Amino acid sequence: MNETKINYGNWVPKKMIVIAFVMAITFTIISILIYPFTFNIILTNNIDIFPLFLALNIILWVIDFFCIFITVFFTSLYRAFDANNEKLQNDIRNIVLENLQWNGEGKALDIGTGSGYLAIKLAKFNNNSEAIGIDYWGSSWSYSVKLCEQNAEKEGVKERTRFQRADAANLPFEDETFDAIVSNLVFHNIAKIRDKSKFFKEALRVLKKGGAFSIQDKVKSKILYGNFNKLEKKIEETGVAEMHYKDTNLALEMPRSARMELKTMGIFYGIK
Ligand SMILES: C[S@@+](CC[C@H](N)C(=O)[O-])C[C@H]1O[C@@H](n2cnc3c(N)ncnc32)[C@H](O)[C@@H]1O
Repeated sequence: MNETKINYGNWVPKKMIVIAFVMAITFTIISILIYPFTFNIILTNNIDIFPLFLALNIILWVIDFFCIFITVFFTSLYRAFDANNEKLQNDIRNIVLENLQWNGEGKALDIGTGSGYLAIKLAKFNNNSEAIGIDYWGSSWSYSVKLCEQNAEKEGVKERTRFQRADAANLPFEDETFDAIVSNLVFHNIAKIRDKSKFFKEALRVLKKGGAFSIQDKVKSKILYGNFNKLEKKIEETGVAEMHYKDTNLALEMPRSARMELKTMGIFYGIK
């Protein structure tokens, strides 16, 4: 038994695959069961309700194919993230760390920490730092404070890390509390606020003047973020001294499913 194995978890929740699979099976069965009724309608020359049944058949098959697609796509994505000890996930997370222009002194915040990876690595690589990870820890993922604390202990940084439940939209910290802010693939998940630039504004609010930030998300997705240039302008208007952008989806080799999922991924980094 390997007791020291660290569990940073897969970004694709297993239960999502299971639910899609069960729905695909259910809709396949319903779609097939409805055929005898349709044939009966044809045989009895019941022309009035035939279009209704035909439409019902088509709708059921469309839903069924959608569920099958979701099952296949997310299974493939799960495997892509899981391969080689979650190498792809860690490579993506490490882009955030590599672009953080921080001297490693003081307090860092990881927004939407999940299983604690970024907060833990920040504390591990910077001996004079303390890292705080916040997350909503809703039911969609199997992440928790306990999992983060266990991972921090295994990585030997339990004393310099802290994890607490909080909402990225409303961080429970005073203005200019942190020396560094990181976040990876979090803001696009928060559906309740359409204008995603508000999360950047909130993150930068708690960052000290001169502090460093590195925030990666699906920022080029028009559906999630709207116009990219407007987003960039809105972030700049929050008062950053220096800001850069990179299309990080191009930086890594990825299987097709991961490329499809992350084709709009990019990173904003710089100094407040
Ligand atoms: C794809 S996971 C990424 C986790 C982590 N950043 C990483 O790189 O492994 C997205 C995370 O966003 C968190 N999240 C979603 N909505 C949130 C919110 N309103 N406030 C804080 N965290 C949130 C989820 O709980 C989940 O842990």
